[in-house]
Amino acid sequence: MPKRYEQVANYIGDQINSGLLKAGERIFSVRQCARELGVSISTVIRGYELLQDRMLIESRPHSGFYVRQQLKLPQTPETSSPQQCPVTVNMGQLAIEILQNMRNQNLIQLAVALPKIDVPAIAQLNRITAKIAREQSHTNQVITTDNLADYDSPLGNKTLRRKIAQRLLNGGVNVHPDEIVITSGCQEALVLSLNAVTKAGDTVAVESPSYYGMLQAIEALGLKALEIPTDAKTGISLSALELAIREWSISACVLAPNYSNPLGSKMPNHRKKKLVTMLETAEIALIEDDINAELTYDQQRPTAIKSYDQSGNVLLCSSLSKTLSPGLRVGWVVPGRWLERVQHLKFCNSGANATITTLTAVRYLATGTYDRHLRKMRQYYKQKRDYFLQLAAQYFPQDIRITHPQGGFILWIRLPQGVDSIRLYHRAMKENIAIAPGILFSTGQQYHQFIRINYGQESRQNLEKATILLGRLMRKLTP
Ligand SMILES: Cc1ncc(COP(=O)(O)O)c(C=O)c1O
Repeated sequence: MPKRYEQVANYIGDQINSGLLKAGERIFSVRQCARELGVSISTVIRGYELLQDRMLIESRPHSGFYVRQQLKLPQTPETSSPQQCPVTVNMGQLAIEILQNMRNQNLIQLAVALPKIDVPAIAQLNRITAKIAREQSHTNQVITTDNLADYDSPLGNKTLRRKIAQRLLNGGVNVHPDEIVITSGCQEALVLSLNAVTKAGDTVAVESPSYYGMLQAIEALGLKALEIPTDAKTGISLSALELAIREWSISACVLAPNYSNPLGSKMPNHRKKKLVTMLETAEIALIEDDINAELTYDQQRPTAIKSYDQSGNVLLCSSLSKTLSPGLRVGWVVPGRWLERVQHLKFCNSGANATITTLTAVRYLATGTYDRHLRKMRQYYKQKRDYFLQLAAQYFPQDIRITHPQGGFILWIRLPQGVDSIRLYHRAMKENIAIAPGILFSTGQQYHQFIRINYGQESRQNLEKATILLGRLMRKLTP
C-alpha cells in the first residue's frame, strides 16, 4: 500500500502521464492540493518532492509548480551480433586500471558496478559487527558455532544457509539449506561453478556483452568464451544458442537472466523455462548469475532460472554485494548435482569463509529490516534511472542508444557513429569522470562504440555535470 505522499504523487503523476495535464501547465498549489485531496500540507510537499525526483514537475520561484517538458528518450540498442566462434579472453589490464581507480575520491565514479547502499543499513551493519566483537571479548568459550577465531563449517554457516533458502523461495527456488555453499562473494561462486563443470580448453557460452569479471574468470581458468547474441530487453537469443550448440562442443552456459550486467536485460519466464530444457537435453551445465534479481523495480523479485530446474543442471550463484554490502564478501552457490564437487573446490580455494562478516550477515538478516531496505533501494535506483535517462536525452547527441533497465543500477550506451569508447574513456578521465569502455564486456572488439554507466552511485549534481561533459566529449570525438 503506497504511503499518503506517494498516493498524492501518483494521483498527479497519472494525470501527467495520461496527458490530462500538459507540459508547461501549472498544477495545484500545495494548499489547493491539500484541500482537494484531504491531506496535510506536509504530505503534499513530500508528494511534490517525489514528483520533482521523478522529473515530472518543476518548481518555479514565486510562481508555483509546473509540468515539466518530457524529453523523448533515446532508443534501446539493437540485439548484439558478436563474432560467433570460441576465443581466448585477454583484457585484464584495463579492467584492473578501472578497479584501481574505484576509491579515487577525485573522480565522478560511473565506471565500477558499486552499489549505493543506504546509510542506515551501513550503520546497522557496523553496529552488529561491533556488537559481535564485543560479545566475543567477554566469552571464555573455546569452541562454539559462533566463535570468531574458529573456522566456519565447510558448507558455510548453517543459519545463513537457512536464511538464503528462505529468501530463494521468493524466486521460486525451493532448496534445502544443505544444498547451499557459502562463498566469498558471487565472484567466487561463479569461479567455483565454472571450475566444477569444465576443464581447461573447454568452451563456455556467454551473453554478449557480458560481465567482465566472468570473462576474466573464463580466461584465468584456461577456458574459451563463445559469445551469443543478446537482446537488451529479453536476454540471450535462444535460436542463436541453439545453432551454437549444434556447431560447437559447449560445456557450460553462463548468464544473468534477471537484470544482466551490462545490458540490464530480463528474460521472460517462458524463455527461462525453454533454456533450462534446451541445456539439459544438450548436457550443458547452466550457471545462473542471480546477483541483481533483488534489485527489481517491481514489487517482487523475478523468478530464478533455477526454479525450473528438475535435474540439478543449474548452478545458481549470488551474493549480498549489490543489495547490502560488497565489503561483507558474503555470497553463495546452489550447485545442484555438482554439490560435492563445489564443496571440495571451495575447501581447496579458500578453506572457509571469514567468520565475522558471515555472522554480521546472519544477524542482519535476522533483524527483519532487509525487505524494507530493499524497497528503499529499488525506489532510489528507479528514480535515478529516470533522472539519468532525462539527462541523457537532454545532453547526449541525438543518435546515441541507451538501455532502459527495469532493475539494478547500470546502463549500456551506444555512442554516436565513429566515437571510440577507449578514446572517450581517456578524455573523460582527464576531466575526472570514470566510465567503463564497452570492450571490457566482450572478448572481441565489437563494443568499441559502447560504454557502461553506473547511475546509482553519484549525486544528481555529479550525474548532471558528468552527462554535460560526456555529451560535449562525444560531439568533439564524432568524426
Ligand atoms: C553480474 C555480476 N556478477 C558477479 C559479480 C561479483 O559479485 P561479488 O562482489 O559478490 O563477488 C558482479 C560484481 O560486479 C556482477 O556485476
